[in-house]
Amino acid sequence: MINSNNTFLTCFNKNHSGKIPFWFMRQAGRYLPEYRNIRKNFSDFLEFCYNPEAACEVTIQPITRYGMSAAIIFSDILVIPHALGVDVRFSQGEGPILTPVTDISVLSKNKFSDILSPVYEAIRITRSELPAKTALIGFCGLPWTLACYMIEGKGSRDFQQVRQVAKKRPEFFSSLIEILTKSVAEHAVKQIEAGAQTIQLFDSWSGVLSEQEFWDYSVVPSSHITKQIKSKYPDIPIIGFPRLSGSKMLDYAKNTGVDAVSFDGSVSLEFVKNELRDKVVVQGNLDSILLAEDKEEAVKQTKKILEILGNKGFIFNLAHGILPHTPIDNVSAVCDVIENYYYKL
Ligand code: CP3
Repeated sequence: MINSNNTFLTCFNKNHSGKIPFWFMRQAGRYLPEYRNIRKNFSDFLEFCYNPEAACEVTIQPITRYGMSAAIIFSDILVIPHALGVDVRFSQGEGPILTPVTDISVLSKNKFSDILSPVYEAIRITRSELPAKTALIGFCGLPWTLACYMIEGKGSRDFQQVRQVAKKRPEFFSSLIEILTKSVAEHAVKQIEAGAQTIQLFDSWSGVLSEQEFWDYSVVPSSHITKQIKSKYPDIPIIGFPRLSGSKMLDYAKNTGVDAVSFDGSVSLEFVKNELRDKVVVQGNLDSILLAEDKEEAVKQTKKILEILGNKGFIFNLAHGILPHTPIDNVSAVCDVIENYYYKL
């Protein structure tokens, strides 16, 4: 049963409230003093992610401070490679470091559910503590983005090496994508069973792909994943985020079966209004740098986004995650504008 005050979930049900649902990627993170306060108790980031009480507490922190319409469970996309047996570490200031995968045989599903069980426990307790009007979002990284980190072993500007491996070792690469597709669908379903009311699928690095690669490595795996989720939970909304993919987002919206597409600055607001939003719910796209650097301009841009897209079938969000140096007042100024905005039904 959907609580009718839950503006986030009702926006998928054509049961609109006149208010714009909003949340921000990385809304639980280092820009919040209360997050830093808990973070300092854990030297290891994954240990923090796998502590259900701590994960629950930081998931709820931004909701308590700003009252977003949805909370996203505190975890990471790299828990999937970790649960498949890959060594994953987060070093301060450098981002994630993984032991590069060169052979499928190093991956194992034996401990997959056990390793991920604290994420499901975190979801269970967070759902029971959140107010009914706040939706709880579960998430996964999509196979292409996970493969990027697993093959390269760390972040990269363009993941050239991964695209080369895909061409040179097609059998290895397609079995990797296949294992990841199954693992992502399984993790998403388990998050729903634990209480997640929506799933967001992140393809953070789909922007480096050519049109054909985008189809093969982003659209096709996403469509398999949504099909598997929908076969069990047809009413759970799925949001896809093929980041920096520009007009290819249209292919994504038409062919993956997602209910919503999260968009960034690689498309214009007019493109989203005229081309994308008659196919799916759209979610976006305030620039994270603007939010961090310039409160007045961020407020101005928020009003512009609302003027163009602020109607049914729209979720306000950022183009990418909140940056760690973002002043907390800038976030509250933007939240105030959205909360005080109503559209005519
Ligand atoms: O509030 C939320 O959005 C929920 C939690 C969340 C995190 N990571 C927590 C986190 C989510 C949804 C993610 C997704 C994620 N993780 C993505 C996809 C979205 C994107 O940003 O494109 C990716 C690519 C990752 C991998 C990852 N995890 C990177 C590259 C880093 C380092 C970046 C950095 O800012 O240092 C992380 C670490 C991470 N994941 C942090 C947080 C809050 C910062 C680590 C810390 O607190 O020390």
